Amino acid sequence: ALVEKGEYRHFMEKEIHEQPDSVQHTLSEYLDFVNGKAKAGPTDFAAIDRVQIVACGTAFYAGQIGRYAFEKLAGLPCDVEIASEFRYRQPALTPGTLAVAVSQSGETADTLASLSWCKANGLKTAALVNVHSSSMAREAETLWPTHAGPEIGVASTKAFTAQVAALLALAVAAGVQRGRIDAAKEAELVKALFEAPRLIAEAMLMEDALKLVAHDVAKATDVLFLGRGAMFPLAMEGALKLKEISYIHAEGYAAGELKHGPIALVDELTPIVALAPLDEVFEKTASNLQEVAARGGPVIMIAPKSAPDPHGAGIRRVDAPECHSLIAPLVYAVPVQLLAYYVAVQKGTDVDQPRNLAKSVTVE
Ligand code: G6P
Repeated sequence: ALVEKGEYRHFMEKEIHEQPDSVQHTLSEYLDFVNGKAKAGPTDFAAIDRVQIVACGTAFYAGQIGRYAFEKLAGLPCDVEIASEFRYRQPALTPGTLAVAVSQSGETADTLASLSWCKANGLKTAALVNVHSSSMAREAETLWPTHAGPEIGVASTKAFTAQVAALLALAVAAGVQRGRIDAAKEAELVKALFEAPRLIAEAMLMEDALKLVAHDVAKATDVLFLGRGAMFPLAMEGALKLKEISYIHAEGYAAGELKHGPIALVDELTPIVALAPLDEVFEKTASNLQEVAARGGPVIMIAPKSAPDPHGAGIRRVDAPECHSLIAPLVYAVPVQLLAYYVAVQKGTDVDQPRNLAKSVTVE
């Protein structure tokens, strides 16, 4: 069926706004909301001892968020690698490893080749894909579908949050199967995930504030994104989104790594976007932001209202919804995407068809 933009100016804008539905639809595959249970489907996470995720681009960052969840919630060692490296470096893998390809299209050549290599080497395989009839869906033993619907914008948005939602739910299921999560904890985490679509919708209300921020960011030639924990991969995704559609150079950094190099770049012309949910590491991130502000860097702190103000001048705040830390990567994906979108609109680039990029890279 032909997909139309409807009331939206770009497919990317439409797809950003579809995320409450696409996440809801995807979560319903992996959660039993009525009974507060996570569903692993055919996968037995107690029968494996490692997860190896392979992916490219935005899907790689979704995989990294998944890694934090698999290790924290399920005590399951998890590696994530860019498929173009994985496939050529002869990685040492152990037989109890589940190889997972993460891909919107299910057709990316390097990811598919990595998956096939794992299968040929006797590993269990799963494909977390949005196109359920794709090559990866057919190649893998287990299909983990995302239900984002067709994604037209070259820069991935709703496919990314669907991947993250599925991985978070699967990590909860894995934690239960591996005896790391009891029924009460499972119910708490499932409830947190259940609230994600509503909080993603609430995050859309940041739009006007982000348009103002975008006006300033559009003048920059370099932008830094910072985060800790699952906000670190999301910071890299934010930088990728900005690069892809606005052509502004951006880097995502672990906030704690700032002082080991990138802080040398800080000046009054380099915006620093901090993803700072009120979690166990908020205070650490806040102190990194003070360091940046003290050096004259214009900081944009995306954090809930209840988060304390870091001391130091020049910190501009954008209020994000209050949320459980499990779903912060889903909720904070929205401001990251909207910021990139409005910077690109401001610059007048071709948002849905950025120069030099393809929606899916089926050749090397
Ligand atoms: C291309 C697209 C990206 C996407 C990547 C991986 O580079 O422009 O948006 O993240 O491929 O695509 P996949 O379909 O495997 O998720």
